[in-house]
Amino acid sequence: MRFPVQLTGTKYGCGGGGCGACTVMISRYNPITKRIRHYPANACLLPICSLHGAAVTTVEGVGSTKARIHPVQERVAKCHGTQCGFCTPGMVMSIYTLLRNHPEPTLDQLTDALGGNLCRCTGYRPIIDACKTFCKTSGCCQSKENGVCCLDQGINELPEFEEGNKTSPKLFSEEEFLPLDPTQELIFPPELMIMAEKQPQRTRVFVGDRMTWISPVTLKELLEAKVKYPQAPIVMGNTSVGPEVRFKGTFHPVIISPDCIEELSVVNHADDGLTLGAGLSLAQVKEILAEVIQKLPEEKTQTYHAVWKHLGTLAGCQIRNMASLGGHIVSRHLDSDLNPLLAVGNCTLNLLSKEGERQIPLNEQFLTKCPSADLKPGEILVSVNIPYSRKWEFVSAFRQAQRQQNALAIVNSGMRVFFGEGGGIIRELSIAYGGVGPTTICAKNSCQQLIGRPWNEEMLDAACRLILDEVSLPGWAPGGKVEFKRTLVISFFFKFYLKVSQILKTMDPVRYPGLADKYESALEDLHSRNHWGTSKYQDVDPKQLPQDPIGRPIMHLSGIKHTTGEAIYCDDMPVLDGELFLAFVTSSRAHAEIVSIDLSEALSLPGVVDIVTEEDLRGVNSFCLLIEPEKLLETQEVSCVGQLVCAVVADSEVQAKRAAKRVKIVYQDLEPVILTIEEAIRHHSFFQGERKLEYGNVDEAFKVVDQILEGEIHMGGQEHFYMETQSMLAVPKGEDQEMDVYVSSQFPKYIQAIVASTLKVPANKIMCHVKRLGGAFGGKVTKTGILAAITAFAANKHGRPVRCILERGEDMLITGGRHPYLGKYKAGFMNDGRILALDVEHYCNGGATLDESLFVLETGVLKVDNAYKFPNLRCQGWACKTNLPSNTALRGFGFPQSGLITENCITEVAAKCGLSPEKVRMMNMYKEIDQTPYKQEIDATNLIQCWKECMATSSYSLRKVAVEKFNSENYWKKKGLAMVPLKFPVGFGSTAACQAAALVHIYLDGSVLVTHGGIEMGQGVHTKMIQVASRELRMPMSNVHLRGTSTETVPNANVSGASLVADLNGLAVKDACQTLLKRLEPIISKNPKGTWKDWAQAAFDESISLSATGYFRGYETHMNWETGEGHPFAYFVFGAACSEVEIDCLTGAHKNIRTDIVMDIGHSINPALDVGQIEGAFIQGMGLYTIEELKYSPQGVLFTRGPDQYKIPAVSDVPTELHVSFLPPSQNSNTLYSSKGLGEPGVFLGCSVFFAIHDAVRAARQERGLLGPLKLDSPLTPEKIRMACEDKFTKMIPRDEPGSYVPWNIPV
Ligand SMILES: Cc1cc2nc3c(=O)[nH]c(=O)nc-3n(C[C@H](O)[C@H](O)[C@H](O)COP(=O)(O)OP(=O)(O)OC[C@H]3O[C@@H](n4cnc5c(N)ncnc54)[C@H](O)[C@@H]3O)c2cc1C
Ligand code: FES
Ligand code: FES
Repeated sequence: MRFPVQLTGTKYGCGGGGCGACTVMISRYNPITKRIRHYPANACLLPICSLHGAAVTTVEGVGSTKARIHPVQERVAKCHGTQCGFCTPGMVMSIYTLLRNHPEPTLDQLTDALGGNLCRCTGYRPIIDACKTFCKTSGCCQSKENGVCCLDQGINELPEFEEGNKTSPKLFSEEEFLPLDPTQELIFPPELMIMAEKQPQRTRVFVGDRMTWISPVTLKELLEAKVKYPQAPIVMGNTSVGPEVRFKGTFHPVIISPDCIEELSVVNHADDGLTLGAGLSLAQVKEILAEVIQKLPEEKTQTYHAVWKHLGTLAGCQIRNMASLGGHIVSRHLDSDLNPLLAVGNCTLNLLSKEGERQIPLNEQFLTKCPSADLKPGEILVSVNIPYSRKWEFVSAFRQAQRQQNALAIVNSGMRVFFGEGGGIIRELSIAYGGVGPTTICAKNSCQQLIGRPWNEEMLDAACRLILDEVSLPGWAPGGKVEFKRTLVISFFFKFYLKVSQILKTMDPVRYPGLADKYESALEDLHSRNHWGTSKYQDVDPKQLPQDPIGRPIMHLSGIKHTTGEAIYCDDMPVLDGELFLAFVTSSRAHAEIVSIDLSEALSLPGVVDIVTEEDLRGVNSFCLLIEPEKLLETQEVSCVGQLVCAVVADSEVQAKRAAKRVKIVYQDLEPVILTIEEAIRHHSFFQGERKLEYGNVDEAFKVVDQILEGEIHMGGQEHFYMETQSMLAVPKGEDQEMDVYVSSQFPKYIQAIVASTLKVPANKIMCHVKRLGGAFGGKVTKTGILAAITAFAANKHGRPVRCILERGEDMLITGGRHPYLGKYKAGFMNDGRILALDVEHYCNGGATLDESLFVLETGVLKVDNAYKFPNLRCQGWACKTNLPSNTALRGFGFPQSGLITENCITEVAAKCGLSPEKVRMMNMYKEIDQTPYKQEIDATNLIQCWKECMATSSYSLRKVAVEKFNSENYWKKKGLAMVPLKFPVGFGSTAACQAAALVHIYLDGSVLVTHGGIEMGQGVHTKMIQVASRELRMPMSNVHLRGTSTETVPNANVSGASLVADLNGLAVKDACQTLLKRLEPIISKNPKGTWKDWAQAAFDESISLSATGYFRGYETHMNWETGEGHPFAYFVFGAACSEVEIDCLTGAHKNIRTDIVMDIGHSINPALDVGQIEGAFIQGMGLYTIEELKYSPQGVLFTRGPDQYKIPAVSDVPTELHVSFLPPSQNSNTLYSSKGLGEPGVFLGCSVFFAIHDAVRAARQERGLLGPLKLDSPLTPEKIRMACEDKFTKMIPRDEPGSYVPWNIPV
């Protein structure tokens, strides 16, 4: 779709159905029911052959700027729901498809529809806002809990944040939106309808070079095909077969894919239960069950209800619409959500073969693929019978995943008990688990032994012990989290016990005493209300000219192009004549000598043109960007898994990737293999350049303090997870050794330099062009350069364009991410909470090469004080050299780690003093004018202002009381509330690194072209630059255009990062515009009523240049590490965030209830973009501190290589309430219109969620009498939360002796 027909609106983000970037709408006409079904699907898993007779609508078909923009496209753009725009077409398609089925959806339907779409930039709130405009009553959650509207009832029964504000206009205006008119939608193609009605139904066969696709249309033909090709899979949704083919290299020469076979879609209500066709999609099953649950009495629908509940969280909407019930059951994934339930529900499978029909039970033997209980070759699953439940029979479903929605369960379970009429004695009991073995596991023996026992505490205790014995997991079990899984296994049973006890009580209150009140909430789903948010910002000065766009919430310049799919990213560029594709071969060992590389088989494959090795790059195989040169390719000694060894160049992507797998490398492992920070410390494996900052006299201060505490915190790394993976296209120009490099990079100057050096040509021959990036977050600087250099080398060698686009898994493996950190601290403090001395050590895991590790470390050390005045402070940092892929810049650059370490220390000090952490924070904060540890002056007035405002807007004190009340009334659920301040110093530490340039042309028709050195990566810098040009030249924004960034127009531009892109480049654009205006002023004053066209022509006639460069030399910043003094930062951004969460102590799940953020951002240039940056960064930070968890094997292999294993926040993770407000603007003389850079600061505020969870866990532990210190590392995942809420279940589980086994993964 993307290339042959050039419909590049549909994006490719992961290839495994996990990100939603490729969402399209599939419409099918059923000639029997005469109904059309529209559903969303992941194009990346949709085999083209399966689409016969279906209409596929891509984002291009929804609307375009050339024809008509669809209301969905308009509203997502105008509500500021796009930043980099790479996820946007997928989002639009999900919303569009929902609206085709439900023109006035509920908010539940909306959040459900977006559950399969990831966005790394926006934080989802504006997308939800856009969606809400289609709902009947958009301002309200519509859940009407207790019959009261959410807007009236308040949270914790407290008055709400006052919504809206006189001084704060809305970020968008609903009045201007196009109405949604369902009659205007594209109709289903009549020719397809006629085809479906009229065409003779017969098997279709598609034969390709390597494989054959057979689509039978009757059951008879299906069986014949199955007999002929017994090994061929029956592909239904392809969501199980597809990922195996793509990621595991499984090859099927023949595929059988039934099409519209009626018997596979049967829905039959019989006396004994419901029969559902194996071909029904999971989404259809959910709808059917919802209807059945409504119609039948509750006692008959216990199993249906449990299955329906799981279908609400199983995968995303797209996968549920593609995946079939039969495919799900037959796949028998170890973490299948439905199989445990269907097994305990006594379901039977109706099979058919040429020999006839038979039924088999869906039981443990079937699930373990025991041959006597499995499908025979030639047999197919036609339907599934799910029996009705009986009176006194109860069925429940449980699951816990890393993320609430669209994440495979860590452990799931189905449980059923039958008591028979009264009596309370267990007559039947079935328990099955997923995630705790190679397949679904049934606790059969335990259940057997419990039969005949009454449902009471003794039974519970016995059951837990029996289950733990039967469902045993070795310490080394794949997937890790072993103790957590063991705990979940019995925690789920405890939940079941509570639930059944509660029902028994309602059925027979006399005989069954029921639960203690405090236990009841254990059964409730975590507080779930629909999202709503507010943004409060100051409107522009009423005296400001109406046409002056500065300070106004202007939509992202590319917003509409993002939503229509017209925005072009690197890989959307059409394939060029003779183009080749490059695929990398990477090392599979963490530390090894390469003994030999055999390229012969790879080279012999058709289409393979070349394999670039170190040999080819002789003399140019390394490049020094910062301090240490880095090698491009390595063929001697590899020092991490994922190191680039060679690169295959072939005619096509498929051929290049196929050949890359055939390169044979023989390794000789080397010692030592250092993976963790602790190992690096033991081996003294550090990069040169320890960083140290000292202020006051720490040692002396320790002598006078009341108390001293020592502690440490470990913080895991983070993957950038930009939605657009590393992408580049190198095009030799054919003369004078010129080359154009189109690349998704934050640093074109570097790409130009490294390519020029690799090709041994001067920089003026290499031009690097960047239109826009699909996200970057620091990950498209150094690694991109190395990839581009090799790609350009291949292009130059063959004189043909070469494209290189990394797969998600490769990208995650090769490019590194945020540095894991270990922080050790010693704090000296007074009993009233004043911290007088702080001694901190930072260790970051730099990986195999230096990259930017020292700068990251340096930034962490410089920012260790966060918002606090520690009168005596020492901070030292070391960058550890390990055998992991090299870590690099990621939004916040060391501050999110450093800040967390400091805040954790403060939290511990508060606990020691018996005070709230907020009190200790406030007490130690900078006040008024002061000095940082590096002796830079700081005016902290706005810091205090943010803190106070955040306290007030969040109703902190009242809510703290409410949280405590909740905690005293609930034993298994706890709430937590925490507030953190922020002082984010902005700057690069050197004046030269802050210089920026721009070029502005005025054409004779009066139109203006602006170019500058900044990269548009979603933050909206181009939009802001046009706002600047518009203000300076006093012309409408529509008159100004910006084409992209290129080394051809602005040379030597600095890297785009560090929150400074708009600041610096804006000053350069301003300078260029002022130069032009000055030149043109005499002409304008001669004809003040003239147009720009008149003035441009007049200037031309008078030989006045209409083109000007602009320049900003950089902020005056410097730092002397010898003396530990300097002025490394241009200014400070202040802020505060207050978050509230609720945790489930039995599962470790948490719910983000509410976050209030207050920021001091000076004069906002564009409040819509700035709110977007704050929210997006906050959600990214929240992910960092809570759910994003990289997993490495003890051999240094990264396991987490895609959205299925690595969980970034999804729409369900956004706090139910999210309020962002700005302080009234303050003057900031040295920045662009007194604005402040905001790209990074918000990440750190995500740790307010970490500390809110910390607060909740502490409450749980206190209630259980655990009063000692609480050590919680980051990310604070469900595993860590559950294991910290120690109770009788965590005590019951078996623990393995450390060192007695090799764990599946290790924290690095
Ligand atoms: C991104 C993603 C997220 C997911 N999340 C979850 C989750 O949260 N929870 C969960 O439980 N699962 C999850 N899954 C797994 C998903 O539920 C299964 O992949 C899906 O149900 C398989 O159905 P399918 O129709 O796509 O199977 P296919 O891939 O089409 O087929 C799978 C197998 O079933 C066999 N088969 C299919 N139909 C028949 C038949 N009628 N008779 C005999 N054999 C048949 C095929 O031969 C094949 O071997 C996820 C999958 C993806 C890709
Ligand atoms: S590309 Fe298809 S879901 Fe990610
Ligand atoms: S805007 Fe969603 S990923 Fe960038």
